[in-house]
Amino acid sequence: MKPFFLLLACVLAWASFPARAQEPILIRFSHVVAPDTPKGKAAERFKELAEQATEGRVRVLVHPNSELYQDREELEALQLGAVQMLAPSLSKFSPLGVREFEVFDLPFFFPDKDALHRVTGGPVGRDLLRRLQPKGLIGLAFWDNGFKVMSANRPLRLPADFQGLRMRIQPSRVLDAQMRALGASPMILRFGEVYHALRSGVVDGTENPPSNFYTQSMQDVQSHLTVSRHGYLGYAVVVNRKFWEGLPPGIRSALEEAMREATRYANTIAQEENDRALQAVRASGKTEIHMLSDEERRQWRDALAATTAEMEARIGKDLVEEIRREIGR
Ligand code: LMR
Repeated sequence: MKPFFLLLACVLAWASFPARAQEPILIRFSHVVAPDTPKGKAAERFKELAEQATEGRVRVLVHPNSELYQDREELEALQLGAVQMLAPSLSKFSPLGVREFEVFDLPFFFPDKDALHRVTGGPVGRDLLRRLQPKGLIGLAFWDNGFKVMSANRPLRLPADFQGLRMRIQPSRVLDAQMRALGASPMILRFGEVYHALRSGVVDGTENPPSNFYTQSMQDVQSHLTVSRHGYLGYAVVVNRKFWEGLPPGIRSALEEAMREATRYANTIAQEENDRALQAVRASGKTEIHMLSDEERRQWRDALAATTAEMEARIGKDLVEEIRREIGR
């Protein structure tokens, strides 16, 4: 961690510690996306519910848009206790050493959200969250964003259209392999850097659900977008373990209930937010939208089939098999 971030982390950790018993317990909830997204709105909903349920004994400060920390730094800050709560995308847990989370990045793997929710809401989901504990984190919930689109400054209809493009990815080996299989060069960048990297030509294209695309104004710097639904993007809400276990039990259970309610809310609004964002991109007239045809999708799948097979070994064959049984694939 850079000295500045370390210093900031220490100051925030110190400031979050209640000096007197009657002072509210502070939860800093840091995230990297805009407030007007599924995650941004759900974080605000959690704040409302948590403050209400604890009658003001807990205060939640939501910090959107990487205003405190960017992707990797926010996880480090959580481990240090400088912030108490985050909801990183599932693709960002692998660099912590929990590569099983990369199963969510497998291309064309989850047929729909119902199948996904059977996994995240069942024993596999619980087991994945438990794997975060040795890292100093407690996983509280899974929140949806949605299925991803691909964008660039040229039409992306067939795998050959990716040839030679530099595509921004999150830090996941599966996403790296996915872009290479399509003929592109993947480049890991923090979310907060993507717009500028697209604008300056550091990268040519990217992938994300429409809500993240639109709220970062990517329509200003990407002339083509393909609704490919080739992969899923969701979140795990995590808290600092020491902080969570140190809470008075009554407060903790009130926060757990607030989180259950915020999760229902997140998973209810996500699809609508993405539909609305796609409409807004279309209405901007700046980005041409292409809906992948069945035949085009077949060609994408064929190009990516070997990647899935190869990445299964990295993620863990037993886990992948268990999930396949759960989703009937
Ligand atoms: C990204 O980095 O592309 C996204 O995961 C950002 C987010 O948190 O939705």
